[in-house]
Amino acid sequence: MIALAPAPFSRLRETLRPFTPAKAPLDLALGEPKSGAPSLIRETLTAHGEDYDHYPPAEGAPFLLNAALHWLRRRFALPQTLLRAEENILALSGTREGLFLILSALRALAPSRRHVLIPDPAYHAYAAAAFYAGLTPLFLPALAENNFLPDWDSAPDQIFADSLAIYLCSPANPQGMAAGMGYLKNLLARARRHGVYLLMDECYSDLYLGEPCPSALQAADALAKEESLAASSALENLIVFHSLSKRSAAPGLRSGFCAGGAAAIAAFRRLRLSGGAQMPLPIQRASAALWDEESHAERQRRLYQKRFRLAEEILGDSFGFYKPDGGFFLWLDVGDGEAAAKELWRREGLRVLPGAYLTQSSHQTDPGSAFIRVALVEETSRLQDGLTRLKRCLRETPR
Ligand SMILES: Cc1ncc(COP(=O)(O)O)c(C=O)c1O
Repeated sequence: MIALAPAPFSRLRETLRPFTPAKAPLDLALGEPKSGAPSLIRETLTAHGEDYDHYPPAEGAPFLLNAALHWLRRRFALPQTLLRAEENILALSGTREGLFLILSALRALAPSRRHVLIPDPAYHAYAAAAFYAGLTPLFLPALAENNFLPDWDSAPDQIFADSLAIYLCSPANPQGMAAGMGYLKNLLARARRHGVYLLMDECYSDLYLGEPCPSALQAADALAKEESLAASSALENLIVFHSLSKRSAAPGLRSGFCAGGAAAIAAFRRLRLSGGAQMPLPIQRASAALWDEESHAERQRRLYQKRFRLAEEILGDSFGFYKPDGGFFLWLDVGDGEAAAKELWRREGLRVLPGAYLTQSSHQTDPGSAFIRVALVEETSRLQDGLTRLKRCLRETPR
């Protein structure tokens, strides 16, 4: 059994505790959208207040599953035959819950599998899920030379054959690079050959900067057509996760869903019916209204595109700045991420996350230790000020 690294924000609190910042704090560490959740939420909650009288269906009410289904079809141009609401979609109280619990559900389907493959760095819930499901995580570095995506060919076939699942986030937290169709198809096909589930965290997929980022659902559909598979087999080893926290700037709503192969979704439904968090019915109503509405998501996307332009103007090519495919993080190469985070906090009151707090350091070279993650979630003028101070402070700090 591996030791589980402490959660990144507990670690950050401990690191920064000894220092008193010289200036008023500005949080650029937490990836919490601060642009204000759409008023549609409050309106819908008020209109459906009487629904609090009822236990909510844990799997999601038909109106929510259908809203998710139609959003998936619109957003990714999926054929009508690929997904059915009741069979292939499950409501989640935020994707974190789903990403964490899914391994326990899949274990029941393939109890002999021992490993879980996880990119490094990655969202900490994946490693925690492996740990609490009694599985051994194997971390694959996601390095700049591979466009910050893991090189799955570096994992031999016998590791795949002994793995229950693979996690992949696209666009990724923290580096923001998206997996293209070719990459997704190769990974999905190899995972299928070895009976491994691909767990795709697509919760940033609506916050793209250029072209819309593809979904693994599109890759599954394309593969199925190439291999003349029946629609019911196309998603066999795939589950994708989507969230309203980023798309709709509603992290407090705790609303997401997953979609995938019928057998895996059925196993997950059984687990969630016994112990999963139920999303209150008025929240299910508000969630359905948000999945049905595009203009607010478009506004969010434009907002982050504007902030990346601002970051580019301020940072230029300093600290390896690049514009990612999506998401709302900068992944800056500052030499020593933890030292930089301490300095930024002490001198400027800027809270950023050391990249090493998102990695598992199981490699000779920690793929995160040189980096800091900076969230572009603050209001634009505060962000402009924060990034200008960040650049000045890091320029004055010897590497
Ligand atoms: C990569 C990634 N996956 C999942 C989540 C969880 O999102 P949710 O709010 O839907 O639980 C986050 C939240 O920050 C995240 O960054």
